[in-house]
Amino acid sequence: MKVLGIAGSPRRGGNTDLLLSEVMRGAASRGAEVKTIILNDLNIAPCQHCDACLEAGRCKVEDDMQMVYRELEWADRLVLASPIHFMGLTAQAKAMVDRCQALWVRKYILKTPPLGNRRERKGLFVSVGGRRVSNGFEPALATVKSLFKVLDITYAGELVFPGVDEKGEINKKPDALRQAFLAGQKLLD
Ligand SMILES: Cc1cc2nc3c(=O)[nH]c(=O)nc-3n(C[C@H](O)[C@H](O)[C@H](O)COP(=O)(O)O)c2cc1C
Repeated sequence: MKVLGIAGSPRRGGNTDLLLSEVMRGAASRGAEVKTIILNDLNIAPCQHCDACLEAGRCKVEDDMQMVYRELEWADRLVLASPIHFMGLTAQAKAMVDRCQALWVRKYILKTPPLGNRRERKGLFVSVGGRRVSNGFEPALATVKSLFKVLDITYAGELVFPGVDEKGEINKKPDALRQAFLAGQKLLD
């Protein structure tokens, strides 16, 4: 089983990074092959809505997103980690999501599998937000669920923690990292 982690935070070693690495550790503990991509280290332009992808479901922008498409195709399980920024995903994560419009074209216009084949895929969303409100994840959840639907990835749930703001503060939440480890193991089911 191949598990791809996508880190959407600009803050290395921050809260979602810590959670993501526990999820990946959990998956690896059950024998999964794991790989993590750090979006902030990549050059991914926002979608230009040029419609070039309408022809063959391929984005014409030759940047690091071309590698991300290949990794998405590779993975059986996807773990998308992004903190909440202004109620939504980070700009880094949203740029990646919007570039998946080329995969939307594969699915809905060209009627081909968005990720190249029809094997079962599942995805988990990992997030934290500084605000202590329970509905602060809803806009991001809507985006992630929409992405997974377009990519034919079964939504395997979310692991979200409100009221976590300072770098590393997730360490103070009792059980959060343990929950992440277990979620990584469960994702392989
Ligand atoms: C630009 C920006 C916007 C933010 N907007 C929100 C928000 O709308 N809601 C919220 O709960 N937290 C918000 N936060 C706080 C982060 O979600 C919080 O600090 C989180 O712990 C960062 O996670 P990280 O360490 O994984 O980057 C924002 C932080 C930044 C830098």
